[in-house]
Amino acid sequence: MENLKLLALSGSLRKTSYNTAAITALKILAPEYIKITIGEIDKLPLFNPDREDENIPALKTLKSSLNEASGLIIASPEYAHGISGPLKNALDWLVSGAEFPYKPIMLINTSPRASHAQTALKEVLTTMSGNIINESYVSVTLLSSNLDSSGIIANPIIANALKTGLNHFYDAIEHQKSDI
Ligand SMILES: Cc1cc2nc3c(=O)[nH]c(=O)nc-3n(C[C@H](O)[C@H](O)[C@H](O)COP(=O)(O)O)c2cc1C
Repeated sequence: MENLKLLALSGSLRKTSYNTAAITALKILAPEYIKITIGEIDKLPLFNPDREDENIPALKTLKSSLNEASGLIIASPEYAHGISGPLKNALDWLVSGAEFPYKPIMLINTSPRASHAQTALKEVLTTMSGNIINESYVSVTLLSSNLDSSGIIANPIIANALKTGLNHFYDAIEHQKSDI
């Protein structure tokens, strides 16, 4: 098995976020040949195109982790039928860079009722030339479950859904590499 580096982002800044718990669980559940780095978006300033040439450490770190990663995993909540502000802010910072376009993307939805944000997020990611891998989409009901990452790992149905999505993501990335 080829080693694969992936970057995972949570669109929630909440300490007990289900989305952060899901990517934390996935990082632990991943086989040893898949290394998942959890990126931070909370230190990014509010997006301002005038500042794109500035030295912003949080942006530098995000861009270099994305550059090193063969794929991006995003788990994000819906707020008022929209994309989470912190995630949209992070994506806006990545619009004009070379790191994002054509990057394979795995989406995790921790609240299946939150369909508006998923639809809007897909539109944004596609507009940014992201490569959404539909087979790797994972939808699990964590909302109101009180599960943290350990609870997710201990739940065979949810853990299995995450692992299956990751396997599909791995296969799609490897397949695309062999097409080049
Ligand atoms: C201000 C606010 C607005 C929300 N709006 C929606 C919404 O429109 N649709 C929805 O399904 N959930 C909505 N929710 C619920 C969140 O998506 C849900 O609590 C989710 O678990 C938050 O993600 P997290 O656990 O990763 O922090 C909202 C929550 C907050 C705090």
